[in-house]
Amino acid sequence: MEVRLLATVGTRPEIIKMAPILEVLYRKKTFDVVLVHTGQHYDWNMSGIFFKEFNLPEPDMHLGVGSGSQSRQTAAVMVGIEDVLEKYRPDLVISVGDTNSVVGTAMASVKEEVPFVHVEAGLRSYDFSMPEEINRRIADHIASFNMAPTERAKVNLLEEGVSPSKVFLTGNTVVDAVNRMLPLANRSRVMEELDLTEEDPILLVTVHRRENVEKEYRLGGIVKAIKELDEFVVVWPLHPRTEAALKGFNLLDDLLSTKHVILTEPLSYLDFLKLLSSSQIVATDSGGVQEEAATLRVPCVILRNNTERPEVIDLGLGKIAGTNPSTIIASVRDFFYREEHQLSKKDYTNPFGDGNAAKRIVKILEGVDLINPYDSPRFDEGSPYYYSFVVSGRMQDYTVAKLMDEFGVEVISIYDNSGMPYSFNLSTPLVKGHKVRIRGEKRMIKKLKRLILS
Ligand code: UD1
Ligand code: UDP
Repeated sequence: MEVRLLATVGTRPEIIKMAPILEVLYRKKTFDVVLVHTGQHYDWNMSGIFFKEFNLPEPDMHLGVGSGSQSRQTAAVMVGIEDVLEKYRPDLVISVGDTNSVVGTAMASVKEEVPFVHVEAGLRSYDFSMPEEINRRIADHIASFNMAPTERAKVNLLEEGVSPSKVFLTGNTVVDAVNRMLPLANRSRVMEELDLTEEDPILLVTVHRRENVEKEYRLGGIVKAIKELDEFVVVWPLHPRTEAALKGFNLLDDLLSTKHVILTEPLSYLDFLKLLSSSQIVATDSGGVQEEAATLRVPCVILRNNTERPEVIDLGLGKIAGTNPSTIIASVRDFFYREEHQLSKKDYTNPFGDGNAAKRIVKILEGVDLINPYDSPRFDEGSPYYYSFVVSGRMQDYTVAKLMDEFGVEVISIYDNSGMPYSFNLSTPLVKGHKVRIRGEKRMIKKLKRLILS
């Protein structure tokens, strides 16, 4: 029987990050794929253009959700997806990212007992003023399968108690997208169209986060910094909500008359990639752009107070600047005058992936057991207990799987000798001195204690 897979997209980054997965799915034909567009993004240059550039087929269904408040938009997605589930009766649903489209899809699917696959799971900013932080936490915890893009994302999920059997380390499909599209992007005429050359010191800017566009002092701070950074040619493709906010705060005319600033419409992916790879620095509050900057080795000034992509900072390619003008200016200049040269030479492994995330994700999905995904667990004591122990010499021939099989417990986290959690799978061996956190029935924990103390 062919497995029916419902894939949903709603916004610009979802289309870009789902495209590599769809490409593998359509090539392999192991699933009967239905593609649904929620309609959260609807302008040609926020949605249609990406279908064209990635050569994706038209979605099988458009929900036409459109813009709206957080709750209305999320609720509209839920209602629309519920109808789709009824019509297509898929065996699995897959979405990528942390938008209202994703959380609405996740909730509707799980409530209809259709297993949900969350791609780009485990990202955490700890900032609940971001709708995205709320969305991703909900989606991760109700998903049947979480595709974590990085080690840190995987550890976040395990530390929150998400079952390791639901977590897979895959890499981020954005790297697949960059690798596939960069050769085509090199043929883009965007540089000529904007009257730029590779020698120009380009500072690329993107802004669209709610906290930045709804607060005048934050958007004003970014504008002030950009105006002062006049040793650069600043190129700023405006997200529609940012353009509206700049107009609303009377900042747009000022920017339009600033000589070193070029404002554009939202760019196509090929044009954006070309521009990003030709930029000296990017200043952004976007998630995807941080990942692409790290992939293309473009230093990234993060126009936020935190990031759920700390790997960019670990690499030395990102700095948290917030929206204070002097911090933004100092961060951009630090990269440009002091660090740029050494960064561009540094060798590194891209923490966001190797460009094979989509293949990995599809392979995992091909192997999942869909017979009884909602078989409710049985706990004779009602629900499980938590326990942690240090691995003794007697347990050295144990793997995670052996421990789980023998004691019927679930391994939640493992910490190394320095106390750092690390990501593991069923075949990971238990190492003497490492600490293991488990959950299970009290009687099984007692049995395990006897082994530890023996
Ligand atoms: C949404 C996601 C965000 C993601 C971003 C990608 C949520 C909570 N936010 O933010 O996580 O990073 O997409 O870009 O899901 N608009 C248009 N045309 C469009 C789309 C939007 O004009 O095609 C305008 C509308 O005025 C709309 C506003 O932009 O009200 C915001 O759009 P919305 O999708 O709600 O949020 P984004 O800021 O795009
Ligand atoms: N992007 C684009 N054109 C633009 C700006 C961004 O194609 O003018 C791409 C960018 O390369 C990245 C994605 O859009 O892949 C990021 O989308 P956005 O910043 O809107 O959302 P986020 O990643 O923050 O969720």
